Amino acid sequence: STTPVTVTVTGAAGQIGYALLFRIASGQLLGPDTPVRLRLLEIPQAVKAAEGTAMELDDCAFPLLSGIDITDDANAAFDGANVALLVGARPRTKGMERGDLLEANGGIFAPQGRAINAGAADDIRVLVVGNPANTNALIAQAAAPDVPAERFTAMTRLDHNRALAQLSKKLSVPLTEIKKMTIWGNHSATQYPDLFHAEVNGKSAAEQVEESWLRDEFIPTVAKRGAAIIEARGASSAASAANAAIDHVYDWVNGTAEGDWTSAAIPSDGSYGVPEGIISSFPVTSRNGRWEIVQGLDIDAFSREKIDASVAELVEEREAVKALGLL
Ligand code: NAI
Repeated sequence: STTPVTVTVTGAAGQIGYALLFRIASGQLLGPDTPVRLRLLEIPQAVKAAEGTAMELDDCAFPLLSGIDITDDANAAFDGANVALLVGARPRTKGMERGDLLEANGGIFAPQGRAINAGAADDIRVLVVGNPANTNALIAQAAAPDVPAERFTAMTRLDHNRALAQLSKKLSVPLTEIKKMTIWGNHSATQYPDLFHAEVNGKSAAEQVEESWLRDEFIPTVAKRGAAIIEARGASSAASAANAAIDHVYDWVNGTAEGDWTSAAIPSDGSYGVPEGIISSFPVTSRNGRWEIVQGLDIDAFSREKIDASVAELVEEREAVKALGLL
């Protein structure tokens, strides 16, 4: 199609924004036939930096980039938006309690949800990257009652890709031979990367690794990878986070491969005992622009306990946000 798709990116002047915008403008978010119009939302102090990034975007002369608007006004940013990548968030600072963190993010994601409700296009699709991503997505969704709930998602694709990378290294197999990886639950240290349904060369991944590696190395390495990146790089994951956001939206719009699935945090329909409405990571496929939870997987006692623990954390976050009047 030749009509540009409007893509709104919040936190555009941040590190993920810098790694993300050029890939969107080059066509990697939606595909090589779709022109893009970018809308960058920032806080007033960072608008100038976003303008600098926009100058560089101009200087790339991307044929698919049909325009860039920069604003500190959420209503302007989401007006007519088809895709919204909510990256900007309030980070946890020293001594901050979870309640304070959720409240501060409520102050960002509730107004953004209202602006999406008021002005976004009918086909709006929202991916929340900014942490705590699952609960921020829930806050934005609650503020947008006229938008179908399923359009609000949160990112666990980075965790999914990290799990693929760890398994590929462990078994010395190409990534292309690994299928059906799953991240369950919250994008936090309680997440559960599941090898019992993953397949390598068509055979169970769990059966090809030692149980101790799965339990004591694989799961914690994936779950704590974000902290390991900060420790090594002196800054949090940025290019890999941007890459995962690209993967999530690309698959949502263009569909997942036949015979495989991916991971995304989407509103639960009650599948696998996850309370309805919680935005939790599941094994998902995408068809015709909609995510569907993969059904019928057997969940053994080990996996059940891990999924339940992460979902319990999400339920607690939902309760905390409810208590703040945000839902
Ligand atoms: P950053 O601090 O470099 O950039 C954040 C940007 O957001 C800043 O430019 C800031 O001015 C902007 N911002 C803050 N409040 C805003 C608002 N109300 N409206 C618009 N913009 C606003 O942070 P970075 O590294 O880009 O990370 C962004 C978020 O992504 C963080 O919350 C981080 O924890 C999260 N993250 C999530 C991952 C995931 O897998 N779900 C992976 C990596 C990071």
